[in-house]
Amino acid sequence: MAAILLFLLPAISVVNGYSGPSYKRLFDVMRYRRNGGAPIDITQATLQAWRDACRHEGGGRVRIPPGRYRIDSVRFIGPCRGPMEFLIEGTLIAPTDPSKFFTDTWIGFRYIDDLTVNGRGVLDGKGAAAWPYNDCWRNPNCRFLPVTLRFDFVTNSRVRNLSSFNSKNAHIYIFACHNLNISRIALIAPGNSPNTDGIHIGSSTKIQISHANIHTGDDCVSMVAGSQDIDIFDVVCGPGHGISIGSLGRTHETEYVTGVHVNNCTFIGADNGLRIKTWAPSLYSLASDIRFENIIMKNTANPIIIDQQYCPSGNCKVQGMLSSEVQIKDVTFRNIKGTSNTKVAVNMQCSPSLPCKNIHLIDIDLSYRGRGGRTTSSCSHVTGSSWGKQKPNGCI
Ligand SMILES: *[C@@H]1O[C@H](CO)[C@@H](O)[C@H](O)[C@H]1NC(C)=O
Ligand SMILES: *[C@@H]1O[C@H](CO)[C@@H](O)[C@H](O)[C@H]1NC(C)=O
Ligand SMILES: *[C@@H]1O[C@H](CO)[C@@H](O)[C@H](O)[C@H]1NC(C)=O
Repeated sequence: MAAILLFLLPAISVVNGYSGPSYKRLFDVMRYRRNGGAPIDITQATLQAWRDACRHEGGGRVRIPPGRYRIDSVRFIGPCRGPMEFLIEGTLIAPTDPSKFFTDTWIGFRYIDDLTVNGRGVLDGKGAAAWPYNDCWRNPNCRFLPVTLRFDFVTNSRVRNLSSFNSKNAHIYIFACHNLNISRIALIAPGNSPNTDGIHIGSSTKIQISHANIHTGDDCVSMVAGSQDIDIFDVVCGPGHGISIGSLGRTHETEYVTGVHVNNCTFIGADNGLRIKTWAPSLYSLASDIRFENIIMKNTANPIIIDQQYCPSGNCKVQGMLSSEVQIKDVTFRNIKGTSNTKVAVNMQCSPSLPCKNIHLIDIDLSYRGRGGRTTSSCSHVTGSSWGKQKPNGCI
C-alpha cells in the first residue's frame, strides 16, 4: 500500500470556509499511483485516495496535481468523516473507448456533506468520440452517455474554478442536492453537439450558479421538476439553448419548480434566451415565483419564450388540441434588452385550459437584428401586466 502524505494543514480552514477543528489531511493521488505511461491512468489511485480521505476522522483533501491523466468512470461516495475537498489541478481525460463510456456518469459524487471541488483543473470529456452514438431522439432503447460531473445527494457544498470541455452528455448534473454553490467555471462544447447541457438541475434546493461561461450545444442551465430556490447570476450563455425551465409535465411531477432568480446574465448567439416549456398534453405541475432581470441579449433567437406546446419529436399528435396542465404563474421579466434574431422577440403561448397568471413584462427593449422591421410580440392565454419601456409592444 502506498504511503500517505501526512500533512496536517491547519490553515486550510481559511481557504475552504470550514470552521471546525481542521485536521483535514491531504491524500495526494500520485502517492497511490502504480502504473506508468503517459497520460497516466489514475482511476484506481483516485478511488483509493478518496476512500482513505473519506474515512479520515476530521475530513480529507484529495489532490490531483498538475499534469494530464486518464480516468475512467468513477463515483466518489460518502458519507465521510468530515469535510471533503477534491482538488483537481491537472487535466483529466475521459475514455474514448465505447466499452468504457456507456454509463450515466464520468465523475460522480454522492451522499456527501460539505464537499469542495476546486483547483483550476480541466475536465476533457472527449465528447466527439461519443456524440455519434447519441440516438435517443429516435431510439427508445438508447444507451446512456455519461455526464461529465454528477452530484447526487450532495449538501452544503461548492464547486469552483473548473473548466469542462466537450462533455459526452451534460457537463454538470445536479440531483437531490441542497445548498450547492457553483462558481467560476467554464463549460464548453460545440454549438451543434447533442445534449451537452451546461448545468442540469432536478429535485434540488438552494442552488447558486455564478460567474460562469457556458457555451454548449444544449441548454445553458436547465431546471426540471423539484428545482427550488435557484439563484443564477453573472453568467454568459451561448451558443446553446438558453436558460430553461422544463420541460415540465411529462411524468407525474408533484415536485414543483419555484423560486428561480436569474440576474445579470448575457446571452450571445443563443437559440433561446429565457424559456419556460411544458409538454402538451401533460400531467398537472406548477412553475411559479420566477424572476428574470438585468439580462442582455446579443443576436439571440427567441429572447423571451413560454411554450406550453412543447413536443420536439412532433409525435404528440393533435398539436394545439391537447393542452398542458402545468400552471405557470408569478413570473417577472424586467430590464431585458439587446438584439433578437427572430422577429417575435416576446412569445408566450400558454395553456388554454390553465392560462399563465400574473406574468409581468417590465422595461423590455429588444430590437430585430435582421432587415425589414421591428420585433413583435405574440401572447395567448396570458394575464398579468406590462409597464415601462415595451419594445416590442407588450401583448399582455
Ligand atoms: C453559497 O454562497 C452564499 C453567498 O453567495 C453563501 O451565503 C453560502 O453560505 C454559500 N454556500 C456554501 C455551501 O458555500
Ligand atoms: C479561483 O480562481 C480565482 C481566479 O483565478 C482566484 O482568484 C481564486 O482564489 C480561486 N479560488 C479558489 C478557492 O481557489
Ligand atoms: C454582471 O455580469 C458581468 C459579466 O458577467 C460582470 O462583469 C458584472 O460585474 C456584473 N455586474 C454586476 C452588477 O454584478
